[in-house]
Amino acid sequence: MTVVRATQPELNAAVQALRDGELVAFPTETVYGLGAHAAHPGALSRVFELKRRPHTHPLIVHLDSPRYLTRWAREIPVAAERLAERFWPGPLTLVLPRAPKVHPLVTGGQDTVAVRVPSHPMAQQLLTAFGGGIAAPSANRYGRLSPTRAEHVREEFGSEVRMILDGGECKVGLESTIVACLGGSVRLLRPGAISLSQLRRVVPEVSDIAAALHEPLPRVPGSNSAHYAPVTPLTLVPADEIEQLAAALSEGGQRIAVLAQRPPLGTYRSVTWINAGPRVEAYAHDLYTHLRTLDKAGCVRILVQAVPADERWDAVRDRLTRGAAASAIEVSADEDYSIAAGILP
Ligand code: TXA
Ligand code: MG
Repeated sequence: MTVVRATQPELNAAVQALRDGELVAFPTETVYGLGAHAAHPGALSRVFELKRRPHTHPLIVHLDSPRYLTRWAREIPVAAERLAERFWPGPLTLVLPRAPKVHPLVTGGQDTVAVRVPSHPMAQQLLTAFGGGIAAPSANRYGRLSPTRAEHVREEFGSEVRMILDGGECKVGLESTIVACLGGSVRLLRPGAISLSQLRRVVPEVSDIAAALHEPLPRVPGSNSAHYAPVTPLTLVPADEIEQLAAALSEGGQRIAVLAQRPPLGTYRSVTWINAGPRVEAYAHDLYTHLRTLDKAGCVRILVQAVPADERWDAVRDRLTRGAAASAIEVSADEDYSIAAGILP
């Protein structure tokens, strides 16, 4: 396994590896992807094996531009065309009726396919040189934190991935916004950097699947709660209670991690406190890195200050809520927005 910057020979090697059915991790503007030739059944199987991800969980096909979209989608509704026109290349995934030849491992055996055109220059370079679709889930084990640096991918998979292209830190830091354009309806399945209002400015009828997201604290996890979770249990705590709670728990002798939006007022011996700041873009950008750091701090619990209720925080709140839900239940549910789409049982 090699970690490289993509100069031409390295890009050629990555393309060859993909053609041979090997996996290549690459940067996107959202998170790092674990790339596989999207028409190579062996490579696709390897993705599921390596991630330890159930086969019912479909993958996103990455393209360098919409020009070959019809190879993957048999129908492109006007709404999808408008969204693609406005937001591609960028952090938007569209779920569309699949073209007949798309491999069932990509679609999880469903009649739909998820497609995205990433904007990261190195992803663009790779996709253009490869000349086809690259299926890529986030480059992490099933249910764990997505990687936003090449280093995270190396920690996660070591030599099990043939190659990791290092494109630096991902600009957005959270996974793409997913929108399903199916059967005449347009539905937000996963919030991301592109907000519901931004989507609605282009396509007014986009519906919001997850009203529960707007609630500040986690609800009882449903069957579609994903993990996005550190190993250390994560709890969301209201802003005005977090310091007191951290202090009380640490006084009892426990090592406690805190992810807050301000510095602590006092000093506490066994509290590891990260101030992620009040700005949503910076918070999202650093969220997974901060959680990785806190996860390694040897704490019994990570307390996360509940984030603001407004829409700009939807994507962050979604990941935190899912992370907390995964900590709260033993047999955690899955990381699957296709269930939210009502496509899978
Ligand atoms: O930003 C991203 O989207 C990153 C980068 C690498 O592009 N990728 C990513 O992939 O987050 P992954 O596999 O970790 O998450 C993809 C999500 C899953 O929750 C999956 O259920 C959903 O997309 N999905 C994929 N195909 C779908 C489909 N046909 N219908 C509904 N949901 C689908
Ligand atoms: Mg993922």
